[in-house]
Amino acid sequence: MIGACGGVASTVALGVAALRKRLISATGLVTELPLFNQTGLIKPGSIVIGGHEIRSQPLVDAVDALHSHANLFDRKLVKMCATQLQAWQRNIRCGTLCGAGPVIRGLADKGSRKEDRSPAEAVERIAADIAAFRRRHRLDHAVVINLASSEPPAAKTAAQARFRDLQRALSRPGSRVLPTSSLYALAAVEAGCAFINFTPSLGISVPAIQERAGQLGVPYMGNDGKTGESLVKSVLAPMFAMRNLSVLSWVGQNILGNRDGAVLKDPRTRLSKIRSKDKMLSQIIGSKPATAVSIEYVPSLDDWKVAWDFIHFEGFLGTKMSMQFVWQGADSVLAAPLIIDLTRLAARECRAGRGGPMRHLACFFKDPIGVREHNMFTQWQRLAEHIARQ
Ligand SMILES: NC(=O)c1ccc[n+]([C@@H]2O[C@H](COP(=O)([O-])OP(=O)(O)OC[C@H]3O[C@@H](n4cnc5c(N)ncnc54)[C@H](O)[C@@H]3O)[C@@H](O)[C@H]2O)c1
Repeated sequence: MIGACGGVASTVALGVAALRKRLISATGLVTELPLFNQTGLIKPGSIVIGGHEIRSQPLVDAVDALHSHANLFDRKLVKMCATQLQAWQRNIRCGTLCGAGPVIRGLADKGSRKEDRSPAEAVERIAADIAAFRRRHRLDHAVVINLASSEPPAAKTAAQARFRDLQRALSRPGSRVLPTSSLYALAAVEAGCAFINFTPSLGISVPAIQERAGQLGVPYMGNDGKTGESLVKSVLAPMFAMRNLSVLSWVGQNILGNRDGAVLKDPRTRLSKIRSKDKMLSQIIGSKPATAVSIEYVPSLDDWKVAWDFIHFEGFLGTKMSMQFVWQGADSVLAAPLIIDLTRLAARECRAGRGGPMRHLACFFKDPIGVREHNMFTQWQRLAEHIARQ
């Protein structure tokens, strides 16, 4: 996991450790639904955790902080899994700040980050770390999941178009041809590992990296996990479409108080998230309603994110009506099981030797790579068909 000690990543580690010890049920895991019986998925308890991080807070402390600040889970659970979390801590390596902006640099601790001389050096180092992790634990496959802090929108450059040109640009010291998330994506591809971008950052959405993934037969998918307000939107919007109700406006206000919220306080970084949240509506309902999406940082909420959505719509005889909903969820707890699902589903593709975009996983993402369909029901159907077929 990139961002291995963040809120989502440390909740994943706690969850996998607890599943190993059979301390929790599989509630929240999509891949434990009957649809996925007998489909050859790896057992969640067989997953080994490792990753990269730029802060010095260990996994156990990160999980403990989620308990004491946000009261997410039982302290007993943290205690019973502490030994396993400490063992996985040894699999966490220094992250890179190559290509990172001031907001992310501000999070980093001395000793937990590396100033690689060039982006090429960062890619090589991270790929070597991943390969060593895989060898050390004799793993059949490794799946690299980007769970690092969101980045601001990245500039498109000519060198991002072809792998040959990208390689040349990456070897120049100080080159800013790729943001950090894309360096991690390329490192995963070079190490022959599946890559998943759970964040709105650029990640693997770079033609040259996708070209390289195609050459090496590596599966990949992203972007930006669909876990809260956007999930509800992609389920509700088809209802308005199916009843031929005309959506006039859809306004969504989001407030959250964790580290992700603090990073999203930066207006440029927030733009990545808002763009990714705002994409789906017009595709689902076939018209362009007035939309407004906001994200505010409210520290006292910690990991509890709240979304308030107001939908103004028109029915028969031109009568205007409205609907509102409030969604309150624990940010890390909503995301963590999906990371386990995505790992199991990506490992299945690796085992079958299938590379390229995993379009059948679109239902997990706000802005799915290579997929225009945002309707949750259609996306779900595609996943079910893929699972039944392969
Ligand atoms: N929680 C959800 O429901 C959800 C949904 C969609 C997307 N996401 C995205 O998932 C990501 C993680 O969310 P979170 O709440 O865990 O955030 P977080 O801030 O708690 O964790 C991010 C971690 O990434 C680390 N990091 C930052 N830059 C790094 C780098 N260059 N190398 C290695 N590590 C780095 C940070 O130190 C931090 O520990 C965010 O980008 C968020 O937008 C979360």
